[in-house]
Amino acid sequence: MIKVIVGLQWGDEGKGKIIDLMAQDSDYIVRFQGGNNAGHTVVVNDKEFVFHLIPSGILHSEKTCVIANGVVVDPVVLLEEISTLKKEGIDVGGRLKISGFCHLIMPYHKIMDRIREKKRMHRLGTTGKGIGPCYADKVARCGIRIIDLFDNSIFKEKLRDNLKEKNAIFKKVYGYHGFSFNKIYNQYKEYAHNLLPYICNTSILLREAIKSRKSILFEGAQGTFLDIDFGTYPYVTSSSTIAGSIYTGTGIKPLKIDKIIGVIKAYTTRVGEGPFPTEFSSSFSEIIRQRGNEFGATTGRPRRCGWLDAVMLKAAIDINDVSEMAVMKLDVLEGLRKIRICKGYKYKNKLLKKLEDFIFDAYIFRRVKPIYEEMDGWSESLADIRDFKKLPLNARKYLRRLEEILSVPISIVSVGSQRQQTIYIN
Ligand code: GDP
Ligand code: IMO
Ligand code: MG
Repeated sequence: MIKVIVGLQWGDEGKGKIIDLMAQDSDYIVRFQGGNNAGHTVVVNDKEFVFHLIPSGILHSEKTCVIANGVVVDPVVLLEEISTLKKEGIDVGGRLKISGFCHLIMPYHKIMDRIREKKRMHRLGTTGKGIGPCYADKVARCGIRIIDLFDNSIFKEKLRDNLKEKNAIFKKVYGYHGFSFNKIYNQYKEYAHNLLPYICNTSILLREAIKSRKSILFEGAQGTFLDIDFGTYPYVTSSSTIAGSIYTGTGIKPLKIDKIIGVIKAYTTRVGEGPFPTEFSSSFSEIIRQRGNEFGATTGRPRRCGWLDAVMLKAAIDINDVSEMAVMKLDVLEGLRKIRICKGYKYKNKLLKKLEDFIFDAYIFRRVKPIYEEMDGWSESLADIRDFKKLPLNARKYLRRLEEILSVPISIVSVGSQRQQTIYIN
């Protein structure tokens, strides 16, 4: 069985919880893009784990967790995650596999990310983890990959080349003192030593696994509208977040995927800047933020909150070929008199009609006004409900209406962060 989990909004949909649940029936759990800009939360018996790089299936012993080539790796964060898990008694040895082709986030990437943000006329609101500059170097072919660390002369040459150019830019353009070759070299050699047991060619590993009919779960990070090509550019991340990128992000062959599960929140959130047509007023946003604990799992920033946007979801379902949906955090909406779903936009402009085909481009998208359908809310608490039929009538109506608008079945409804606070729909 091959399954893919993707976020259909702007990230933080609750993918971590779903991955953890689905990992039970999987042999391999695979991250294929993004980096430690991701924060995937898994709650087990009131204990909260937040994974930034290690796949969210790691809590299930016996499962192999793979960080494939499409992921950019900050070795400091990765080693910290491994050691935190060890302290919790979770041994990752032998079952955590990291591709040697992963590009490394270097100290200059993190500083570059932060300085660029400060200097921009319109900030993007990045996580400041160096993701954009690292992917930029990958594409510019001056990136340093994990495999390079194991050959002293190659690592030295690449690091020298990079520092020569980057230190000049840092000093002349950004007025920032440069980076020391020796310091970075020695630090990264130590990281290499500590990472060595986990490194392999994960592309070969996964192709072998597929050949022997193992069950594989691909763990998407971020969300569809943070995709570098199809998101609300330039207010996006620097990787391809859609299901299609599992191929380039892992090096598996095109194959038949059994399920593509789209994860959505029962409302919408976004961290960072960028257009958000269904965004609540700041006072209502604050209420939902408190109820839903909507603070970034990576940066702690308050998340912006808004109504569910079915126009965006339709586009996300289409581009990812979503076969079923998991609706998360339905409990957060309890007690609202009315609930809205955005079903269309008003888009008045004097420009070419053709632009409507590029609606999610940030500069077009910020000009749309949502058209809502309003439904009655419910007052009952959902936290202890485990059976779809026991949900309040209006909660069921909301879910059924969503399925109708989106033409995709909902297979999971989540009513709390705990594993057991989950309703499965056949
Ligand atoms: P991800 O990045 O998509 O994995 O999502 P995050 O972990 O960043 O954010 C989701 C947050 O919602 C986490 O704090 C989860 O513990 C929490 N969560 C997940 N499902 C539910 C739910 O059904 N109800 C509530 N109240 N919280 C949930
Ligand atoms: P998960 O996997 C929510 C957002 C940042 C910023 C933009 C660019 O937890 O859903 P970056 O640091 O990637 O260059 O920032 O992307 N962003 C996320 N928002 N969830 C995430 O991941 C995110 N990863 C990046 O807030 O707006
Ligand atoms: Mg998150």
